[in-house]
Formats: sequence, C-alpha cells, structure tokens
Amino acid sequence: PDGLLADALSRPLHDLRISVTDKCNFRCVYCMPKEVFDKSHVFLPHSSLLTFEEIARIARIFIAHGVHKIRLTGGEPLLRKHLDKLIAMLAEMRTLSGEPLDLTLTTNGSLLARQAQALKDAGLKRVTVSLDAIEESTFRRMNDVDFPVAEVLRGIDEAHRVGLGPIKINMVVKGGMNDHQILPMARHFKGSPFILRFIEYMDVGASNGWKLDEVVPSSEVVRRISEEMPLVPLDPNYSGETAERWRYVDGGGEVGVISSVTQAFCRDCSRMRLSTEGKLYTCLFAAGGHDLKALMRQGRSDAEISTAVAHIWRKRTDRYSELRSQATEGLTGVPKVEMSYIGG
Ligand code: GTP
Ligand code: 5AD
Ligand code: SF4
Ligand code: SF4
Repeated sequence: PDGLLADALSRPLHDLRISVTDKCNFRCVYCMPKEVFDKSHVFLPHSSLLTFEEIARIARIFIAHGVHKIRLTGGEPLLRKHLDKLIAMLAEMRTLSGEPLDLTLTTNGSLLARQAQALKDAGLKRVTVSLDAIEESTFRRMNDVDFPVAEVLRGIDEAHRVGLGPIKINMVVKGGMNDHQILPMARHFKGSPFILRFIEYMDVGASNGWKLDEVVPSSEVVRRISEEMPLVPLDPNYSGETAERWRYVDGGGEVGVISSVTQAFCRDCSRMRLSTEGKLYTCLFAAGGHDLKALMRQGRSDAEISTAVAHIWRKRTDRYSELRSQATEGLTGVPKVEMSYIGG
C-alpha cells in the first residue's frame, strides 16, 4: 500500500529516523567540532528527552501512515541507557503489510562490541557503522577524542558475528583530512562481508565551517578506486536509496557513494526525522521542527497526533540539497539544526 501519504512533491513517507540522544563520545570534525561542543555546551536535560513509551507511540502512528523503516540515530544512540528496551518495543511492531520493520541503527561503533549481542537479542535487524579512516592517526584526528580504530573494528566484527547484518560502513570524506584514506579503506573492506559507502561532506548544522572546496565529489571517489580496482555500476536496491551502488569487476563485493552535494537525491526523499526532544523535521536542513512531544504531553489522542503528522507531510516541499546545488554560492543565512541533534 504505497503512497498512503504523499507530500506536496508527491513523495511517499517510508522512513522515520529517530534520534535517541544528542550526546556523543566522539567529536568528529564535520559534526561536533570540539571548539563548539566543549565543556560549556549544554546538552538536553533528561526531562526533555522523549521516553521510550513516547517514542513507541509515535512510531506506531508513523507505521499506520506507511512507514516501514525505522533508524535509530543520535548523537551516539548506544549512549542512551537501556536502548535494548526501546528496540524490543519497536521490534514487535508490524508494517501495514504485516512484515517486521526494517529496524536499524547508525553508530560510531565505539560501544558496539559490548552491546551487539543485547541489541540482536532485543530484535534489532542490522547496523550501520561510521568509520572515517583505517589509519590510526587519521582516525584519531577525525574523531578528535583519540579513539582507536581497532575498537571500532572489533565492534563491527562482533556485530557481524551475532548476525546484525548486512552491515554498512559509512565514511564521510573531508578533502585534505581523510581523502587519502579512500583507497586504504576500499582495500581493507574489499572482499569482506561489509559494504563500504563514501559520503560527501555536507553543510549540515551551523558549526562545522563547511566549505565547498572540502567536498570530494563521489565521481572522484569512484575514479580513484576504479583506477586500481575496476568498478561497474549496480542497480539500486529500492527507489529513494541514498547510495549509488558499484561492484568490483573481480567479484570483491560492492561499495556505495552518497552524493548529497553533487547529485542531490531530494526527488525521492521519503524520510522524516524525530529529534531527541520530540520535534519532527521534514528535512535534514529544516530550520525548525514540529513539536510532537508538546502534543503528547498536552494529552492529545493518537488520532489527533496522526492528523497532525499527515498534515505536516502533505504540506512538505523541502528539497534543500537540490536548491543548494542550483545556487552558485551555496545557501547562506538559513538557520540550520545540528546533525547531532536531529540524527544522521
Ligand atoms: P540504508 O537503509 O542502509 O540504505 O541506509 P541509508 O541509505 O538511509 O543511509 P544512512 O541512514 O546510513 O545514511 C547515510 C548518510 O547519508 C547519512 O549519514 C547522511 O550523511 C546521508 N543522508 C541520509 N539521508 C539523507 C537525507 O535525507 N538527506 C541528505 N542530504 N543526506 C542524507
Ligand atoms: N556530512 C555528511 N555526513 C555527516 N554525518 C554527520 N555529519 C555529516 C556531515 N557534515 C553523518 C555521517 C555519520 C553519521 C552519524 O552522520 O554519515 O556517519
Ligand atoms: Fe558523534 Fe556520529 Fe557526530 Fe561523529 S558523526 S560526532 S560519531 S554523532
Ligand atoms: Fe531529503 Fe532534505 Fe536531504 Fe533533500 S536535503 S534528501 S529533502 S532531507
């Protein structure tokens, strides 16, 4: 039952991304730069966070509108206490066609080795792990808290061992910082069960000091890899997939590129995002959110909240990345919400 809800540009609603904490134990240079997210930065107080019951309630309402994929994000979602309890609640839910949800999570991998088994047991289907370099010094410079590569690799292996696959590895490429890691990362994961994806550095939020000349276009990533290890394009798995897929000619598996800057994919964007404190965002670059927590805590009924959600989606016209690529200088002066608050 596709297209139950369509937005103003005829896009269906398929995908809900839920941020479960705005905190993170990393300070990735492109996301939570240390200068901004320092000791004086105020994170959300516990009373502002949605409870698991509130999250589950919103999830049910979205599923009734046709959502079949839920991704938990952060900040770092594994920092949220008892996350496995939330996962167990979501894992019980069925889509409109009676299938289990595509229930997944994006993590920096630092706590994954410890938690993988509990997450699997709770009903999580798969995980996506961020990893920006395979070289120790570069990885430590990217996460900016001296976190070692080996511990993330151990988390990935443990997640694989307990069956949280297919596992995707996301690498944000920031020109001049980690682009020399494109080939070493490709070599490392070629022939492994893991799908490596290269992400163009985006101008999300207001604190990473984004510059267009630090974006390494996906075409360049594919060219560099292909020169050493030839690639051919693959068809998308589903319409609206963010990654463009490529396959090694020699059978070494696949890689992906996510080109939100040079090849915007707003046309098929079927995602809504729920922030840690219960605000609903229709775009990663939206200036403001719609306060669902307030509706819930005012005692509104499911039907009322469901109507509000439908209304928000039907009115939706967002296509920030497309507009940015049409503008020659990028879009300045637009207030933007941080990725660590709204979730990757
Ligand atoms: P799969 O379910 O595994 O296909 O995941 P996905 O394609 O949704 O990718 P994932 O959630 O791992 O997102 C990877 C990265 O793509 C994010 O961290 C963002 O950098 C970028 N991204 C994902 N969704 C959007 C979006 O709606 N807009 C933009 N501009 N970028 C996005
Ligand atoms: N550009 C692209 N992706 C980003 N992420 C965070 N900040 C950015 C950015 N500026 C994404 C990465 C990371 C996930 C948690 O959020 O994919 O893996
Ligand atoms: Fe944390 Fe992920 Fe942001 Fe890095 S990208 S600072 S791991 S939330
Ligand atoms: Fe969707 Fe906004 Fe990203 Fe475009 S920029 S793909 S509309 S979240």
